[in-house]
Amino acid sequence: MKKLIIGNLKMNTKPSEFKNYAMTLATKVKGTKNDVVVCPPFTHLHLAGELLEHSKVEFGAQNISDEEKGAFTGEVSASMIKDSGATYTIIGHSERRGKYKETDRLINKKIKTALANGLKVVLCVGENLQTRTAKQATAFVKKQLDEDLKGIYENELDSVAIAYEPIWAIGTGKVPTNKDITKMMETIRNEIEYLYSAKAKEKLTVLYGGSVNLSNYKKILANDTVNGVLVGGACLDVENFAIMCKETY
Ligand code: 13P
Repeated sequence: MKKLIIGNLKMNTKPSEFKNYAMTLATKVKGTKNDVVVCPPFTHLHLAGELLEHSKVEFGAQNISDEEKGAFTGEVSASMIKDSGATYTIIGHSERRGKYKETDRLINKKIKTALANGLKVVLCVGENLQTRTAKQATAFVKKQLDEDLKGIYENELDSVAIAYEPIWAIGTGKVPTNKDITKMMETIRNEIEYLYSAKAKEKLTVLYGGSVNLSNYKKILANDTVNGVLVGGACLDVENFAIMCKETY
């Protein structure tokens, strides 16, 4: 089965370093049947457009502004990102929800802005440890989906992938059991069926993210309910990331 493998570089690499990264990745993943996406910092996007133009590697932003244009100092708009050749943007990453206090309402507006500008969206959802311990994880994720997708039409869902990234698994080396991942993938799909339709559920792309690395990626991607992975720390080593991108299932 074809999988979607996304590398989130977060605030790592300088443009000069990314040049080598992008060229190596493009060369190494030639011929793989998986979809490969890399999300570098904003400052690298136009460079990514030049370097990856004729490769099978797509690229995207890690965040976008909820505004289209104007007096919003420090913000980067969806149309600027699209103009670089980017096809994706991550929205609602827990690091933005947490550190930058992004609300579901803001995330909902960002999704609409991204879709209106022709960008595909990777919407991140996921609970913290306290919520999981209180056995509230599924209710929490369902609520995030309800609020984040408010007013998004069913046909637009073709351009939205949901990434389940439990906060307690990000950068910690801890990964949910395969059973827990399957359960949350099903929760997400069932919520999409509830909000939209059985057809929307069937077509939905759901990813897992949180401490995916060279020693656990095969097991995670071998799970049929997982359509792909969102990789943070382990994608910083381009050789390792390319290995993950090339695996077949
Ligand atoms: P890590 O792979 O470093 O846990 O990060 C996951 C993540 O946040 C990807 O968006």
